[in-house]
Formats: sequence, C-alpha cells, structure tokens
Amino acid sequence: MTTAALIVAAGRGERAGGGTPKQWRPLAGKRVIDHTIAHFRASDVVDSIVVVVSDGDRPHWETLEGVQLVTGGADRSGSVRNGLLALQGSGVTRVLIHDAARACVPVALINAVATALDAHPAAAPGLPVTDALWSGADNTVTGTQDRNGLFAAQTPQGFHFDAILSAHLAADHAAADDVELARAAGLPVAIVPGAADNLKITSPEDFDRANRILGAEMDIRTGTGFDVHRFGPGDHVTLCGVAVPHDRGLQGHSDADVGMHSVTDAIYGALAQGDIGRHFPPSDPQWKGADSAVFLRHAVEMATNAGYRISNIDCTLICEFPKIGPHAAVMQSRMAEIMGMSQDRVSVKATTSEKLGFTGRGEGIAAQAVATLVQP
Ligand code: CTP
Ligand code: MG
Repeated sequence: MTTAALIVAAGRGERAGGGTPKQWRPLAGKRVIDHTIAHFRASDVVDSIVVVVSDGDRPHWETLEGVQLVTGGADRSGSVRNGLLALQGSGVTRVLIHDAARACVPVALINAVATALDAHPAAAPGLPVTDALWSGADNTVTGTQDRNGLFAAQTPQGFHFDAILSAHLAADHAAADDVELARAAGLPVAIVPGAADNLKITSPEDFDRANRILGAEMDIRTGTGFDVHRFGPGDHVTLCGVAVPHDRGLQGHSDADVGMHSVTDAIYGALAQGDIGRHFPPSDPQWKGADSAVFLRHAVEMATNAGYRISNIDCTLICEFPKIGPHAAVMQSRMAEIMGMSQDRVSVKATTSEKLGFTGRGEGIAAQAVATLVQP
C-alpha cells in the first residue's frame, strides 16, 4: 500500500483579493503552501507528495523541493484530474486530495482520513454544522433550513486510487470537490470528524485566523547556562561584556566573562548543541584571552541558521563584590548589541549568596542564564 498526497495549488485566489495567489503568500514565517506541505511531510502515512500548480506561477513553485510538480487545469476538478493522471502507473494505491489553501490541516486529521481508508474506499473530513442556517436575499432572511445531518466538507479527501481515477475520468461536469465525483460514480464515502482549525483560506481575513492557529504551534525552546570563574590577581573583572574595576580579576582561559558564558551556554543548550567547550576547546591556544563576544556571536548565529529567533535572555550574576547594580544597565545594552536584540528582551541582574558558599566567601563569581528561542 502506497499513499500519495495530491495538493492542488493551481487556483487564482480571486476571493482572497487577487494579486499573488493565496497559496504563495506569506503566512507565519513561510508561505501558505509551505505549511500545507510540511503537515503532509510530518505524517507517517504519506509516502510521496504531488503538487498541482499553474505554469504562470513558476517563480513561486520553482523553489519547492522534494515534491512532484504537475500542471493544473481550468478548474479545481481539472487540476485534481491532472494530478491523478500523473500518479497513474506509479504504484500508488491510495491518494489524499487536499487544497493547498488549507494550510492549518492537523497531522492527526491526515492520519485519520488515511486510516479510514482501511475500511472504506473513500473517506473525507466533515464538520457538523452548528450554526442555524438561513436562506436570504437582498439582506433579508427568506427562509430557515434544518441543520440536522448537514456537514461542512473539508480536505484531505482520501480514496482508493483506481476508484477515484475512474470517477474522474467518467465525470461529465466539474464538481465542487472529489467526494461529489466519487458519489456520482457510486462510491460510498465515510465521514471522518473534521477539525475546526482546518479552515480553507478564502478571504483576506482568513490569513489572520490561520496566523493565530499556526502561531499556537510555534516551536519554543528554553536553554539554561551556568558558569563559575575563580578570582585571581588583577584590577578588574569582565562581566557581560563590561570591564568593572575590582581589586581582583577572574581567572580563565578566555576573558573569563562568567555572565556572557552562561548566556552563551543557555543558547547552545536550547539548540541541544552542547556548550562553549565543545565549540571553542580550552585546549586550543587561539582562544587564550579571547573576547567572549566571539562565543556569544557564534551561538546566536547557530540559532539564526537553525531558524530560531532569540525571544529573551535572563542572566543572574552571583557575587558579593563587585557591586553589579551600577553597571547592570550598560551590561544589558552591551549584551543586546552583541546579540542583535532589543534591550527590553535582555535582562542582567545580580544577587549575593548571603555570604554563604564560595561566592559568599568571595572566592569567585557564578552566573546562571535562561534563553528562550522561538521558531515561527
Ligand atoms: N485550485 C486548483 N486549480 C484550479 C482552481 C483551484 O488547483 N483551477 C486549487 C486552489 O489552488 C486551492 C483549492 O483548489 O488550493 C481550493 O480552491 P479555492 O479555495 O476556490 O481556491 P482558488 O480557486 O484559488 O480561489 P478563488 O476561488 O477565490 O479564486
Ligand atoms: Mg476557486
């Protein structure tokens, strides 16, 4: 059994306001269709993906990777038919036909439709109508309609491949969806419970709703960092990028900036990328006396390259002396500058340990930090 997803994306999106068709427009960090494809990729039941596109949209679809591209037809049915014909003879036994414009489709719904095909030749998601239904004309209600037994149809609509291909080839008119054609060909269609979030982006306002739905599934990561450096001879300590006069210095291989190290490790931690020692081994002489901003910039760059934005940083320095309060604001702005963040997302604060432990005895300074990374 081989299952293909057939995503139709050849429409013009007139109701969404014309211009660039809706499937190619930006939504929550990528394009509408990129979300749609990502959800099918995330499903274990999908073996391959076909995307039906319009020739004229080449600048948009030529960046798609890992999908088979097929030219669309004059209407939705024509586009589906072209996709089915392209799959003919490929060994595909089941197909899940989906609107590119349904970018918020839950992976669980894709799987539920596919599972229903074990017992039925056709299955599709339907959402029971819950609002009262009217008919109307000229802004006036002209009648009421019993909603009992009515469903709003969604996609993906799943079919045994040969059955839906025959239904399409036998069809003598364009249909609103593939369930209509399947039924015309005598195929029973099982209803799978639809999902309220599975909206079809149709009008400009739908982008806002889709944004909210997709925003809720943002990948949010947290990392923590902890570091300690011992006092030694010197006349200042470097903390969060700022030289603070003191009667001793901090010992370490680099500039021993314990605050910046804890923040750097928090970012590496959120990315599950180890710690500073992994990326800048202390055994390597080139990092001797290094400005720790090099380490921090590297961690920030790794986060950016992995598609994350650093949402906020909170760093706590733990020492009795030097007093941090008078320097905290400049530390905050220096850290924000190095990380390319706004200052209101970077916190630098300090505490004593009530003269207890090694920080209390003035043997060294400790720092801990938390970083939150988000990927839209
Ligand atoms: N579709 C298609 N080929 C067509 C028409 C529509 O592949 N000739 C696709 C659309 O790209 C969309 C899905 O079918 O993903 C559902 O159609 P609809 O929401 O009506 O999209 P559009 O036809 O693009 O929008 P509109 O009707 O507002 O112009
Ligand atoms: Mg349309």
